[in-house]
Amino acid sequence: MKTRISTPIERVDAKEKAGGSARYLADMSFEGMLFAKTLRSAEARAEITGVDIPELPDGYFYIDARNIPAGGKNRIDMIKDDWPVFADREVRFAGETIGLLVGPDRKTLNRLRDKVKVEYRKREPALTIDEALALKGGAIHGEDNIYADYHLVKGDPDGAFSRAARIIDDRLDTGYQEHIYMEPQGVVAKPEEDGKLGIYFSGQCPFYIRHAVAGTLGVPEEDIRVQHVVTGGAFGGKEHYPDVISSPLAVAVRAIGRPIGCFFDRVEDICFTPKRHPSEILFRTALDESGRIIGMDIDVKINAGAYESCSMVVLQRAIFSVNSVYDIPNVRIRGRAVATNNVPSDAYRGFGAPQGLFAMEMHMSHIARDLQRDEKEFKTAYLIRKGGLTVTNGLIHEEVKLPEMLEKIDAMSGYSRKAEVFIPGKWRGIGLSLFNHGSGFTGNGEQDLIQGVVRMRKRVDGRVDLLVSNVEMGQGLQTTFRKIAAMILEIPVDKVVYNDPNTGLVPDSGPTCASRSIAIVGYLVQEAAKKLKTRWNESDIVEVSHQYETPDGISWDQETFQGDAYPSYGWGVNVVEVEVDPLTYEVTTRGIWAVHDVGVAIDDKIVEGQVDGGIIQALGYGYLEKLESKDGMYQQRTMADYVIPTSMDFPRIESALVENPYEFGPYGAKGAGELVFDGAAAAFADAVQMAVDRNMCRIPVTPEYIMEVRDNG
Ligand code: MTE
Ligand code: MOS
Repeated sequence: MKTRISTPIERVDAKEKAGGSARYLADMSFEGMLFAKTLRSAEARAEITGVDIPELPDGYFYIDARNIPAGGKNRIDMIKDDWPVFADREVRFAGETIGLLVGPDRKTLNRLRDKVKVEYRKREPALTIDEALALKGGAIHGEDNIYADYHLVKGDPDGAFSRAARIIDDRLDTGYQEHIYMEPQGVVAKPEEDGKLGIYFSGQCPFYIRHAVAGTLGVPEEDIRVQHVVTGGAFGGKEHYPDVISSPLAVAVRAIGRPIGCFFDRVEDICFTPKRHPSEILFRTALDESGRIIGMDIDVKINAGAYESCSMVVLQRAIFSVNSVYDIPNVRIRGRAVATNNVPSDAYRGFGAPQGLFAMEMHMSHIARDLQRDEKEFKTAYLIRKGGLTVTNGLIHEEVKLPEMLEKIDAMSGYSRKAEVFIPGKWRGIGLSLFNHGSGFTGNGEQDLIQGVVRMRKRVDGRVDLLVSNVEMGQGLQTTFRKIAAMILEIPVDKVVYNDPNTGLVPDSGPTCASRSIAIVGYLVQEAAKKLKTRWNESDIVEVSHQYETPDGISWDQETFQGDAYPSYGWGVNVVEVEVDPLTYEVTTRGIWAVHDVGVAIDDKIVEGQVDGGIIQALGYGYLEKLESKDGMYQQRTMADYVIPTSMDFPRIESALVENPYEFGPYGAKGAGELVFDGAAAAFADAVQMAVDRNMCRIPVTPEYIMEVRDNG
């Protein structure tokens, strides 16, 4: 019998990571390396009127905007290029990079940094969405502080509202979330022997860094060579931020001519690197006499912080996801990404979808509670099906197995029975969430922006080099990519060589994000392997490549946001059961169940690991991880006050998969890495709602918040 692709194998990176022999960037030594410490703004919003640098000992340097070479620019080329390499005259958030202090001894650098005097002319910052929209202190960006303002219409919302028998208003809020990846951010930049500039980094997207650094220095991209180094975790937090470290560092290396490393400690990382966007989502929902939803008006705002970077794309995913698994007729959606004087918000597992999905699931549960209807039955009535219309008037091209998944999770968790016997307000509750996640980049990303290419090379000894720019960051790629190639070629997995990518050696198959590695690049790996197989008997070195093409039948208009925002979706259902302490309002989670459709798992064990990790991370988001910004500074700065859950906080997760092969995924696989994050916060908050018989309207659902809601009626 042929082995199934899903049958687990030993993870390629398991032993070295679990055993501690993996070499992270901070474990590596580079001859003659100096260190860089970042001089940061102490003010959230100010003009810089002077920077007074103390006298520097021999071998120490101060680098700032004046060191950017002629032909370069003081802008970091990310999706937008509004983020300066070094603040020059103006600072827009507390912690913004003003300059770098560089030298051999890190303690001395810290001492020198404390002696620098920056003089500011302070301006009044706008920190919340409301303050920014009211233009407190004057506009930060443009004339209205809005980076992006999108409008979507499906059907005839005006007509629906004019015939409504009842209108339900609702508001849902979500907070910041910090990634707490295993190792903090770090980059080393150095002059290479062939005259190129080498960048070594922990993170997700080697070609993003190459592009950003080349733009800053004003040199061809080929002059920059980026080497990915073992990455313990990233979760979106190392999608763009390594560019923000690499660009100033590259300027310093150009000026000084020595290798320089910049390593954040945990506090610096928590305080100054981007977080998940906080959101404020308003719903107005029109019901007819029978209580059926006939229209929805949705207003999505996200707090994007001081520079736009990728916020407009996060916003796109948020608004495209906000109706999630439901085919609601007659919808109007407005989405705004708002500029504030906070650390810029950026990518975090889910990329806007968790905010939209949480809001939608809670809103649906609020309507069901209001109408005193069974929640599962109420939600089921609106489930989208194959051929159903999304909020961008695109089609669902695949079979939707949610009904089967609901049955399955009901059997696993006893949801229906418990929902019937638990008496609302009697401290026990069970909650349900349904969700989906589009695989790959939003809209035109894959076909117009990325155009990913994979190369594969058979050596004469029969080993095969897999040449891609995607990275292992804990999600299992070193194992799953090898498995796909090996299975097609019918060779042992260890005959496939897949090293941490170097931009000098691999083609640009795109960044490691948007759950695209398996769903999009994995398919290119499969197709390249098929080509190689037809030439397997050639005695020379054989090299093949394969490039992304939009699957047949998918259409999208980036100008109007109309069409298929994603070629395929992963789907999920979560159930969480809780018990709330009537005195302290502490919540104990009694059970967690999950059923997902990821097409076909490339490795059952790796997907199970993604499910476990994604759900625990999402429960942290939903009940525990409080991150507040005051005067533009996060109040929680260490892992003692920004607390993330451990495996001891929750019971074992019971999860299952439903197979639903996708034609254009490798072996039928779709994206899984973010899907598994998307539903747990809503299922948890929904369970608490039942336990305390009150609507939950924001996360994290802390005991303090439960008390506030209970005691205020
Ligand atoms: N899992 C681990 N262990 N570590 C990570 O950094 N990142 C998540 C998710 N799962 C992450 C992870 C994010 S943000 C994304 S986009 C997907 O993995 C990427 O998965 P893919 O490489 O299969 O596309
Ligand atoms: Mo994931 S947030 O797309 O890196």
